[in-house]
Amino acid sequence: MTHRIRYGGDYNPEQWPEEVWDEDHRLFTRAGIDTLTVGVFSWSLTQPAEDTYDFTVLDRVLDRAAAEHRSVCLATGTAALPPWLAQRYPEVNRTDFEGRRHRYGQRHNFCPSSPAYRRLATAMAARLAERYAGHPALLAWHINNEYGGACYCDRCAEAFRDWLRDRYGTLDALNDAWCTTFWSHRYTDWGQIEPPSALTEHWRGPDHTAFQGTTLDYFRFTTDALLGCFLAEKEAIRHHDSETPVTTNLMGMFRPLDYHRWAPHLDFASWDSYPPLDAPPTWAALGHDLMRGLKDGAPFWLMEQTPSTTACRDVNPLRRPGELRLATFQAIAHGADATLYFQMRASRGACEKYHGAVIGHAGRDDTRVFREVAELGRQLEQLGAATLGARTPARTALLFDWDSWWALEISDGPSRSVRYQEVVHAYYRAAREAGADVDVVPQTADLTPYDVVLAPVLHLVKGDFADRLEAVARRGGTVLTTFLSGRVDEHDRAFLADVPGPLAPLMGVRVDEWDARPPEFAQPVPELSAEARLVFELVLPRGAEPIATYGTDFYAGTPAVTRHAFGEGEGWYVATALDRRGVEQVVRRVLARHDLIGPYADQEGLETATRVAPDGTRLLFLLNHATEAAELTAHTTATDLLTGKQVKGGDPLTLDPLGVAVLRLQ
Ligand code: GLA
Ligand code: ZN
Repeated sequence: MTHRIRYGGDYNPEQWPEEVWDEDHRLFTRAGIDTLTVGVFSWSLTQPAEDTYDFTVLDRVLDRAAAEHRSVCLATGTAALPPWLAQRYPEVNRTDFEGRRHRYGQRHNFCPSSPAYRRLATAMAARLAERYAGHPALLAWHINNEYGGACYCDRCAEAFRDWLRDRYGTLDALNDAWCTTFWSHRYTDWGQIEPPSALTEHWRGPDHTAFQGTTLDYFRFTTDALLGCFLAEKEAIRHHDSETPVTTNLMGMFRPLDYHRWAPHLDFASWDSYPPLDAPPTWAALGHDLMRGLKDGAPFWLMEQTPSTTACRDVNPLRRPGELRLATFQAIAHGADATLYFQMRASRGACEKYHGAVIGHAGRDDTRVFREVAELGRQLEQLGAATLGARTPARTALLFDWDSWWALEISDGPSRSVRYQEVVHAYYRAAREAGADVDVVPQTADLTPYDVVLAPVLHLVKGDFADRLEAVARRGGTVLTTFLSGRVDEHDRAFLADVPGPLAPLMGVRVDEWDARPPEFAQPVPELSAEARLVFELVLPRGAEPIATYGTDFYAGTPAVTRHAFGEGEGWYVATALDRRGVEQVVRRVLARHDLIGPYADQEGLETATRVAPDGTRLLFLLNHATEAAELTAHTTATDLLTGKQVKGGDPLTLDPLGVAVLRLQ
């Protein structure tokens, strides 16, 4: 048990001479670093040949960490192949979407169906676990690194067919699910089924497929195939170490893998946050909440973030003074119990030599970045255990559904311009900026804790989900969904019913037609003084009342937003992509019905997040994302855990530009 938030990052001392390690540890102590992620790319070092294992360097890295009272998150290192492996077993190299078998190079590129990869990766995990299971520095296992991507080789084709046999049992069931009578695709032999690629069902890249059902299943198969690699390594570890928690670093909103299928197999969730340039703060926050949602709200680790810049983008801006601290407290506010960096010391060569690091090439401790990292280490020490194990008491749920994401973005019609993440983020942002705490949950989640369920672009509806949404409204809750929801079943077959399919009774609407226009075209929505874009569904109210309407065209005056009284609650339907102002008004009306607008909702740039510690203490994080000071009036009596200062309700409360307060409420 630790007494504070874990602090540290990826550490690859095998890349530099051992004399430098002394300096590394001296600087780590200065910066309050207690946790090192080790061995992520060390396979060619720990196994220089198939029958030779060599752990002398790793032994020294771990022993040294233990001697310095630091913990190690030990990676199995199976994400980057050693050259001998690819040379001896060319099958380990992936075959890409265009059908090209790759040769040795890069990383994150092994075929998940390769028996040689599986055998050797698992053997490595087993050796490491056997050797280090009881090591005093060992804190957690980190399997592989950022799993992702797909392979289209013949072995994967075979594995896909096996996966399909398991899922469908018979070819009749598969033909029915994939609608294969369309374009004469009726399969009469499992061997006829091909992975959907540029050589088979696709044109114009991975999002254009003749058979959405096939492509959807390939996404699911790839998710399971890579998960199979993870599970094989985890099992090997468990054989020697039954206790130490096991994770792998995920990537937040990462389309290729359905992390909800991974969630039950992770002992805790961890992820790498590299928000896109110019993303609003809610983009990273949504990633945090999605990752927290994987384990039912249990704390996660921020496994990687850059202390200063990335290197892989065309342009790599620097984190401004104060931004790192703010991003770190944002992660903690959303549930991180560990905040780690990529990377502790910069590599000398290769493609990440310009990636930000706690310690740069010159090894100095008087740089601005080092000073900020060290100051943050001091503040985390001061915060101590206050936030550890805390939970988010959210009464608002946002649905996040990989199946819907995939189905929407591989769909032909009505619009290629609708992007799943953007619509989901728009609703998330509106709720968060109104001060609501939000849990981001899958369709299988228990919805009973929530008063509000936001389910934007819920394109694909599975199982009894529509019934469970109805139950939320029946007991008085509010459910919101939008255009392009309730369209298809789990196989991407249209519901043979009025749109929005199984959601129609709750929404009290019927949609027969929809119009799609280029992104430049804006349709006014006068009641909200807002604009709508991309897709305009024509709504026929069937019990619902219009809240806002379209301003022009032959459907001028017909509803763009409706509300339907259902049981004790309501169903809201938003039939088009409203702009930020429009989404904000709709979401605030929904939240207001349940008194979920936060006390600082109108403070521009201010983010709030609530956490409840295991002893019941309520913490309110105030995060000022603005570059001006925020002048607030405290809404209650509280103590700021970072300064020790007390405020009473009604007192002025100032946050510096990019400033943070962690209020312990009384
Ligand atoms: C990823 C990887 C790291 C490193 C960083 C650079 O998150 O896991 O190995 O490449 O990106 O940003
Ligand atoms: Zn393959």
